Amino acid sequence: MAITTCVFDAYGTLFDVGAAAREAAAEPGREALLECAQELAEHWRLKQLQYSWLRAITGEYTEFWNVTKDGLDWALEKTGLDGDPELRERLLALYWELSAYKEVHFMLARLKAAGMNTAILSNGSPDMLAGAVDSSGVGANLDAVLSVQDVGIFKPARSVYDMVGDRFGCTPDEVLFVSSNGWDAAGAAGYGFRTVWVNRAGDPIDRLPAQPHTILSDLTTIPDLIT
Ligand code: LAC
Repeated sequence: MAITTCVFDAYGTLFDVGAAAREAAAEPGREALLECAQELAEHWRLKQLQYSWLRAITGEYTEFWNVTKDGLDWALEKTGLDGDPELRERLLALYWELSAYKEVHFMLARLKAAGMNTAILSNGSPDMLAGAVDSSGVGANLDAVLSVQDVGIFKPARSVYDMVGDRFGCTPDEVLFVSSNGWDAAGAAGYGFRTVWVNRAGDPIDRLPAQPHTILSDLTTIPDLIT
């Protein structure tokens, strides 16, 4: 079946989640953060994801903004930065205005010019996603921003991937799903989407039941996959 619909994960795929810690660390008076910005960003991201998976397993859904704050609080304590409430507020504020990776605008414009449906499918809360879409300016080339909040569980639950067919009236084999999260690409491949794993870090492939169909180092050539 020909691809009609290109769907993107948001955080880490279109939006650079490391930017919040990097940008805060570059501000005056942030010497303590500067020493461990990368470590903080990695702990923050990993805890945010772990909490989403655990809450999905135990049926204790809460909006992604809450697991984002919980993950940050763990990471700040782990790096010894938990005594600075102003830093916490600054990092959270920056998470609402993440920048898109540099190739995103042109790549999405090419997909729209080729007649594709385009969408985000994200764990993000609708208001967080609206903030990142607005600040990065990618909204003009997106037909939909789908949040798991409408189904009340996080990826890789199958009911999340069902949202794409519900919105666009397409079958799974018409969908190209793109994620920088190996576990998300694997979940989507198991669901029946064609999938791309964007492996910017050159990480090993996840040992999960399904594997992505294509592995790329960034998003530039996504439109070549559907034409
Ligand atoms: C998302 C996270 C998983 O945007 O990156 O859904």
